[in-house]
Amino acid sequence: MPTLTFSAAGQSFEVSEGTSLLEFCLENETPMRFGCTVGSCGTCCFVPESGAENLSEMEDEERDTLEMCTGEEGARLGCLVKVHGDVTIRQDGA
Ligand code: FES
Repeated sequence: MPTLTFSAAGQSFEVSEGTSLLEFCLENETPMRFGCTVGSCGTCCFVPESGAENLSEMEDEERDTLEMCTGEEGARLGCLVKVHGDVTIRQDGA
């Protein structure tokens, strides 16, 4: 099973392959912050420290929101990604 790690909080979780990051975080106590949950506000923006290749592919909606809310290279939206392998996440404070 893939391991999902929140580096700032020092927390790791085993998740099923293909898990929605949003659904997992809503069902478990994780440090990840969400707002709209539908890919439009940017609150859930994070940068994968490792395992970016293990996240679902970025679609236009996610790309458009990221362009509006951050210029950070490699940033993703937590409410839209699925986890397909080991990923380490850094979200400010998480
Ligand atoms: S929670 Fe709003 S974009 Fe993800």
